Amino acid sequence: MGRKFLVALGGAALALSLAACSGGGAGSGEKSGDEKPSDLTIGVSMPTQTSERWIADGNAVKSKLEAKGYKVDLQYAGDDIPTQSQQVDQMITQGADVLILAAIDGTALSSQLQAAAAAKIPVISYDRLIRGSKDVDFYVSFDNYKVGVAQGTALLVGLGLLNKDGSKGTAKGPLNVELFAGSLDDNNTQFFFGGAMDTLKPFIDDGTLVVKSKQTTPEQVATLRWQQETAQKRMENLLTSAYNDGSKVDGVLSPYDGISRGIITALQNAGYGKGAKKLPVVTGQDAEIASIKLINDGVQSSTVFKDTRLLAEQAVNAAEAFLQKKQPQANDTKTYNNGVKVVPAYLLPIATVYKDDIKATLIDSGYWTAEEVAAGQAKK
Ligand code: BGC
Repeated sequence: MGRKFLVALGGAALALSLAACSGGGAGSGEKSGDEKPSDLTIGVSMPTQTSERWIADGNAVKSKLEAKGYKVDLQYAGDDIPTQSQQVDQMITQGADVLILAAIDGTALSSQLQAAAAAKIPVISYDRLIRGSKDVDFYVSFDNYKVGVAQGTALLVGLGLLNKDGSKGTAKGPLNVELFAGSLDDNNTQFFFGGAMDTLKPFIDDGTLVVKSKQTTPEQVATLRWQQETAQKRMENLLTSAYNDGSKVDGVLSPYDGISRGIITALQNAGYGKGAKKLPVVTGQDAEIASIKLINDGVQSSTVFKDTRLLAEQAVNAAEAFLQKKQPQANDTKTYNNGVKVVPAYLLPIATVYKDDIKATLIDSGYWTAEEVAAGQAKK
């Protein structure tokens, strides 16, 4: 069978048959462990380019691998599940030697993973755990539960109920808050929302925090595909349904900067941020440049910084270990059960960023420049 023909057909089943009949052809993964990097290709699949975070991840993984001499096939799936499946199928049929995958939907890549396993291609789950498959070999991410705790804590600090050092703040309730979570098909969502709710629950239970909409379950507060517009719509609906009696929102738990910007737009359109009607405290995640400017300008309250450069480095280390027939080094072998097995993981630390932290955490570390922060836009 000609290779062109195979590529044209694509598909997981095909990858399986390719592996079965070629016995060591493209993508068989049957390497000796001492090939030259330039003979090896790493397939990198990222969910979307609508969020800077994934662009930064893709670029960082690619450039770090290329600096070591590897070939890289980097693809973005435009947040479309069939596109991602197809791109990964194609990486397999075209002979990728390792796959680094950040899934759109954590359960939608099982057939691709089966094909990868049949072709002996190691799979590294990147930031978002792939669920329901035994064929995930390693997971690199951040401590996602701690991200949630940091978001809940940042809401409490922003509201003045806690001080940054964790001691009790001077504010008194009751304060009105609303809750947002990410996409339910992303395994991280349960960790973020769970960590935040564990932190906020005592304050909700004793009446210090009031969720006027009464929407508190993950299903009620989720945001499909993490979309800014969806969050803006939901905030608009909350304002007209639960705050049409003259009451005000004091804080909003937001799991991601794009969602935060949607929420802020809805609030501003409803007159918040003008005169005495102060904008609520809004949290975030990813230190996206548009949100860092908002934090610097006192519009958004905080974000959680996850250094994508370090995550990319861990992904590259793991890929290299597999290519050298070694096991990557894990620092967590308990937390990430994907429904079929516990996936060994390397988890990185996170940092909360308030306005005061922008310089030390983001500018001094070279993540963003002072000019980018002022402009609210990435240079390149
Ligand atoms: C990532 C977050 C990101 C979100 C939306 C999650 O899987 O861990 O960093 O904010 O996806 O892109």
